[in-house]
Amino acid sequence: MNRTNNCGELSKTNLNQNVKLSGWVNKVREKGFIIWVDLRDRYGITQLVFDKERSSEELFSAAAELGREFVIEVEGNVIERKNINEKISTGEIEILVSSMKILNKSLVPPFTLENESDGGEELRMKYRYLDIRRQPVKENLMFRHELSLEVRNFLSKNGFIDIETPCLIKSTPEGARDFIVPSRLNPEHYYALPQSPQIFKQLLMIGGIDKYYQIVKCFRDEDLRADRQPEFTQIDCEMSFVDQEDIFRQFEGLMSRLFSKFLNQENVKFERMTYNDAIENYGIDKPDLRYDLRINDITNETKGKGFQVFDNNNFSCCVKVENKSELTRKEIDNLTDWIKRPQIGASGLLWIRHNSDSTIKSSFDKFFSEEDLKVILDRASSKPGDILFIISGNKKESLMQMGSLRIELAKRFELIDYEKTCPIWVTDFPLFEWDEDEKRFFSMHHPFTSAKPEYLDLLDTEPDKVIANAYDLVLNGNEIGGGSIRIHDFDTQMKIFELLGMSKEEYTSQFGFLIDALKYGAPPHGGIAFGLDRLAAVFKGKDVIRDFIAFPKNNSGKDLMIDAPSKLTKEQLKDLSN
Ligand code: AMO
Repeated sequence: MNRTNNCGELSKTNLNQNVKLSGWVNKVREKGFIIWVDLRDRYGITQLVFDKERSSEELFSAAAELGREFVIEVEGNVIERKNINEKISTGEIEILVSSMKILNKSLVPPFTLENESDGGEELRMKYRYLDIRRQPVKENLMFRHELSLEVRNFLSKNGFIDIETPCLIKSTPEGARDFIVPSRLNPEHYYALPQSPQIFKQLLMIGGIDKYYQIVKCFRDEDLRADRQPEFTQIDCEMSFVDQEDIFRQFEGLMSRLFSKFLNQENVKFERMTYNDAIENYGIDKPDLRYDLRINDITNETKGKGFQVFDNNNFSCCVKVENKSELTRKEIDNLTDWIKRPQIGASGLLWIRHNSDSTIKSSFDKFFSEEDLKVILDRASSKPGDILFIISGNKKESLMQMGSLRIELAKRFELIDYEKTCPIWVTDFPLFEWDEDEKRFFSMHHPFTSAKPEYLDLLDTEPDKVIANAYDLVLNGNEIGGGSIRIHDFDTQMKIFELLGMSKEEYTSQFGFLIDALKYGAPPHGGIAFGLDRLAAVFKGKDVIRDFIAFPKNNSGKDLMIDAPSKLTKEQLKDLSN
């Protein structure tokens, strides 16, 4: 037996006990006659003490030789500690070591393995196994485990069956780019890794499974961002004989359970908002409602006063920040520079100060009387002390720019109430998006999403106006899940493929199996998938999902530790190329 206890559990109740511990040397401190070693394992840190008077000479010199990250096993007595360390659970005791075995040596790690490491991101990714020894990384992985366990328990109790679907599947043109896997046994033929188990879960419904779930890896060859990885994990769910309300009820149940268990929040209210309202009021389809900063359309209030910026653009909008009328010119210039960066792309930022003494000052005073400015302030329900920021331009772009500014203002002026949990169902997405470059429609969600029945008539005449039976779940400004009620009827599915510009040959060769299956009594069905990595990050108030993945990829999609992707040998390539 390498240990009687772990490094996180001994306390004063264990005084005078003889114990055996194993772990890594976290830190060695030497002070003449005494050596302290912090011994670390998954569970915590326990202080070991070697003392010239009480330890044998051999043991003392062995302790003096210990290096960081050596793996050791020690036996000793639990004694009371003179200087209590309140930061750790074992801080009241230490172990007076009587014997020690070095189980393995270690090179000096290339970065410190403390909570705040001195190692850069890339270095830590290259030595991820060392990074995982750090407490914050370990805690994230443990949290992820707790989260998925709770999800499994909830779904299982609610009748969902965990079914695995294949990873080597067929490439389909819709959605993101596929990762492709060549087939050695079938020259010139390729598998694709699934972007999601979408079609399989629908086929499971046709197979009568009724309620399915899977915590499953998905693969998408797309550009990476803080909240995106090329391989990520979904909590993928599907149900038969349901409508949107049934889905909302079921998954509000799941989320409420998670809010209660992990955030200590009971009875959290799920807002609902149409896609259109989200864009018009918040400039984004995943609004964060932990702060207000709602966007106001002030096109009418600003037109016709002779100011070209307003007169030449078809849209103007503002946000109001309360109690910030005294922002310095420098702060405003800084925001203006921020919004003019190519990533945001606004041409400028206008402002109106509603001073505390009720005077009004704007960046376009030359063209607007105080009365004119008041009309704008009223539109935004401004009070003395507030400031309004204004963007003018094309409607779609201005709203997006204002949406980004809104988030930036909330961060800069610390307007986010981190105690709040704000889930929103965003509904009524358009079924299609028009792609100007390719001059064709794309599915906004995916081609298996049904249209709201009341819009079906528009499919032939004005497909861009058709509203989908699709929904996203947004949590504190992050899209944590998305789903839809599916098409379960064969004629409609074919029509959608046609509207997406596919010929009969194309969709039959791509999706023939689904079309066939729809002919064999497909039940009405729908579902949703949540991003597990994102969910974990959002629950912990973090933006970067990488920290919740044991072995993530960097921003260029590389695993720096195993050096993937990598080149193949000539022999391997030969096997694949005939
Ligand atoms: P969707 O594409 O919206 O829907 O994905 C569902 C959820 O998965 C997460 N997600 C990601 N997380 C990390 N990295 C990525 N690259 C990434 N892409 C998506 C998000 C998202 O909300 N089959 C449908 C679901 C359905 O209709 O039931 C689908 O995959 O949190």
